[in-house]
Amino acid sequence: MAQVTELIALRRSRPHTKGDCIVHISVTVNGTTHESDVEPRTLLVHYVREQLGLTGTNVGCDTSSCGACTLHLNGEAVKSCTVLAVQADGQHVATIESLEVDGVMHPMQTAFMENHGLQCGFCTPGMVMASISLLNENPNPTEEQVRLGLEGNLCRCTGYHNIVKSVLACASAATVSGSK
Ligand code: FES
Ligand code: FES
Repeated sequence: MAQVTELIALRRSRPHTKGDCIVHISVTVNGTTHESDVEPRTLLVHYVREQLGLTGTNVGCDTSSCGACTLHLNGEAVKSCTVLAVQADGQHVATIESLEVDGVMHPMQTAFMENHGLQCGFCTPGMVMASISLLNENPNPTEEQVRLGLEGNLCRCTGYHNIVKSVLACASAATVSGSK
């Protein structure tokens, strides 16, 4: 983690110059493979937002504290402000934009909507991606396990109660329908 913090500090302190080296990467994002040229210091969250235009993933703290930037890297939730774009070379990334299919929301999105798991919505994409990952690992969590599982994702609005309720509702619905 210290290494990432140092990289972020370096990125902020050092302005872009024309002489910066550029790295070619190939990343599959939401099922589409993108061939891209990036600076070695480019963070994954900035790559998906600024280079691919996928602005559903938010940037909150930029220092791995808030979880607003959570997306899936090879199926696991990661804070994309702690990952360099070059580290995603050859990997699979899924952002919040991947969840809706043919106009139908992911069950976790529906659960958040039905249980009022959001207010301003800023934390919500990261919260939803982290919640899906949580249920992938533990399909039937207790309330305490949900709270623990989402402790890296901060919300300034809801007080968390309805977020936890949403995740439990999604888990319960999946158990009833036999799906995830
Ligand atoms: Fe990545 Fe806050 S923006 S954890
Ligand atoms: Fe506003 Fe979570 S809904 S920060």
